[in-house]
Amino acid sequence: PLALIAAAVLGYLLGSIPFGLVLTRAAGLGDIRAIGSGNIGTTNVLRTGRKDLAAATLLLDAIKGTIAVLIARYFWGVEAAIVAGLFAFIGHIFPVWLKFKGGKGVATYLGLLAAFAWPVAIVFALVWIAVAYTTRYSSASALTASLVSPIALLLFGYPREAILFALLSVALWYMHRANIGRLLDGTESKIGKKA
Ligand code: G3P
Repeated sequence: PLALIAAAVLGYLLGSIPFGLVLTRAAGLGDIRAIGSGNIGTTNVLRTGRKDLAAATLLLDAIKGTIAVLIARYFWGVEAAIVAGLFAFIGHIFPVWLKFKGGKGVATYLGLLAAFAWPVAIVFALVWIAVAYTTRYSSASALTASLVSPIALLLFGYPREAILFALLSVALWYMHRANIGRLLDGTESKIGKKA
């Protein structure tokens, strides 16, 4: 149990680092939460016009999840890895540093997939790209990719992971409820549109 608690703390601490906020602030762009959708993720960082910062946000928000899982697995085993991954996701969405108002979890979801089942991380990325290419909606791309991923996990022989990621997908859809509303009434902003 001590290992699981350590894994939870490690996951939460890594997951709760709000890279989008940190990077844009360091670049002198002010508070990302006052721009565009107000979200701290890659899509909204892109609305500042800084593709480099958006790419760095995507990479770092993903890798923090990957690293949490890999460290926990190395030191404490598979169960601890699952706990670390779950708490990295929770940390990203509910960071204590931002009064528990964090991101929507897409990049971290991808980083966790990379750690648990890398072939399915590729499936996620391909679905995301395909939907983004056709619709130009980042939210719709993430929603579709997160719908496909648990099914892909089952098909690729990861039944336990399928359960974990089905849970994360539900949370991810819930975090996108405002985006879903905008998609339905046609007011969602498209990728690359500056704020
Ligand atoms: O899935 C992408 C999501 O994070 C959209 O971000 O800023 O448009 O709410 P945003």
